[in-house]
Amino acid sequence: MQDYPYTFGISEGIPTHYDNHITRTLSVMAGQFADQGAYDAALAEGDELLYEVYELKRPEVAGELLHGISIVHPGLVGDEYFMTKGHFHAELETAEVYYCLAGEGMMVMETPEGDWAVEELRPGRVLYVPPRWAHRSVNTSRNQDLVTFFVYPGDAGHDYGTIEAQGFRKLVLQKDGRPQILDNPHWRAPAER
Ligand SMILES: [Fe+2]
Repeated sequence: MQDYPYTFGISEGIPTHYDNHITRTLSVMAGQFADQGAYDAALAEGDELLYEVYELKRPEVAGELLHGISIVHPGLVGDEYFMTKGHFHAELETAEVYYCLAGEGMMVMETPEGDWAVEELRPGRVLYVPPRWAHRSVNTSRNQDLVTFFVYPGDAGHDYGTIEAQGFRKLVLQKDGRPQILDNPHWRAPAER
């Protein structure tokens, strides 16, 4: 980590400089895909790589901006596209910006108050995720990586547990070869957890 200004490039979705490379495979997504049978069958075939994150290390304090690259690989579990775990920020009143570099996908979002939104990600598009909105990237391409640059406040933190317990209100499934946004039949209100 350096405390003077720096630049880096992005080559085929990978930053030319980074500090952490995080990989997430099918096994960390237990209970997150709607079709449990399809999930079990996929896992029996192998613990496939779903997504990767390249992070540049910065102090996790207010005033800093954490940033890096997220790559969601293409694939399906049943009819459901490969996606990230998704999270609220532990410090709920913190936002995030995503800039899509390659591929095609959707960001599924919701607030604790019950609002939801799904926005398309495609190259050159910027997505602003306001404070309070949980977010999950979904790769809706059948053959291309979904690559995004992200930046969020240093003190945001991650709350994965809420989404692990209740899921997102909306799912993105492939129907007739195209992405469709559907209600998640397994979504549970916080009071029911
Ligand atoms: Fe985030």
